[in-house]
Amino acid sequence: MSNKINVAIVGASGYTGLELLKILINHPNFNITYVANSEGNTTVSKLHPSLNGVFEMEVKKANANDIKAVSELVFLALPHQASMGFAKELLALGGLKVVDLSADYRLELDTYEKHYCKHEDTLNLPNAVYGMPEFYREAIKNTNLVANPGCYPTASFLALAPFLPFIKEGASVFIDAKSGISGAGKKLTDATSFVSVSENMTAYNPLKHRHTPEIVEKAKLIGKKDLKINFVPHLIPVTRGMLVSVYVTLEEDIDAKSVLKAYYKDEEFVRIYDEPVNIKNTSGTNFCDIFVVQNGRDLFINSSIDNLLKGASSAAVVNANIMCGFDENCGIPKIAYVP
Ligand SMILES: NC(=O)c1ccc[n+]([C@@H]2O[C@H](COP(=O)([O-])OP(=O)(O)OC[C@H]3O[C@@H](n4cnc5c(N)ncnc54)[C@H](OP(=O)(O)O)[C@@H]3O)[C@@H](O)[C@H]2O)c1
Repeated sequence: MSNKINVAIVGASGYTGLELLKILINHPNFNITYVANSEGNTTVSKLHPSLNGVFEMEVKKANANDIKAVSELVFLALPHQASMGFAKELLALGGLKVVDLSADYRLELDTYEKHYCKHEDTLNLPNAVYGMPEFYREAIKNTNLVANPGCYPTASFLALAPFLPFIKEGASVFIDAKSGISGAGKKLTDATSFVSVSENMTAYNPLKHRHTPEIVEKAKLIGKKDLKINFVPHLIPVTRGMLVSVYVTLEEDIDAKSVLKAYYKDEEFVRIYDEPVNIKNTSGTNFCDIFVVQNGRDLFINSSIDNLLKGASSAAVVNANIMCGFDENCGIPKIAYVP
């Protein structure tokens, strides 16, 4: 008899859903027992022809009771709002663990409602743990609801966190971020069409992007610093990958590289580089690569992740590993897709 944990993937036709499938198919301790999208009535290889001959399963219209009958842990790779409606149903059944990839459980109620929509699950929201193991490892072990962090906040916050103790309260921090187009999900829009993105690069929602409050809130909760975060995301013409540049002035003299290295010395999935980082070395992996250089107290901090992996699906499986008592790195991709 298998000792594996049975898991469900809801939202399996999307970009992060596919990455979840790819990781979980090969995972030694998880067994995929239920796959769903919004309509059902199809199969995994019809949704994702790249998995033809690799993994076959019926894809159903998501139903909470059916999931509960065959699974112990559920990955929700759904748009925000749809996600909380479904998580609420699943958690009400009892005995299920949920890892939610959307923004629905990442923020405090007021912040969420200001930037997203009315929250429909205020019962479970206070119990959700922010799924950044670098800061919440112990809490993740003991929760049944993990809010997987956003991709921009992951790359930005991991770059910024080591330096928070040396930044003045209320200081301005500038974050310039670039994302591959898959960050926008599979739904085609004018902004993400081939003609718009090919050989092009553009900022979108400068200083107004919804991931800004997530970075601000975590700097306050984790780093105890109230900062003015000026966040400018860009779309770049690559499928996947995220490069973040943080510009900040400290209020004391430090050796930034030593601080960075010491801060992450025990973190398997954060790598420190002596040269600026790039998106190829993290593509296909759960790594966050970071580089820092200083001009006196002015720092340039540079980080890179795969938005679909460390920024979403591999991070979600790391969280599931921790929730289930497995080694954090169990089944987690480490080898990049280079060249
Ligand atoms: N893309 C990234 O880099 C990234 C990074 C971090 C976090 N996230 C977050 O992860 C979540 C998924 O993102 P994604 O990029 O994978 O999105 P996506 O490519 O647009 O896929 C969304 C998935 O949700 C399904 N869906 C939508 N409404 C549903 C409903 N009411 N019931 C059941 N299934 C429903 C869709 O099914 P159909 O195909 O049937 O419509 C599809 O499988 C989002 O909340 C996103 O913000 C994404």
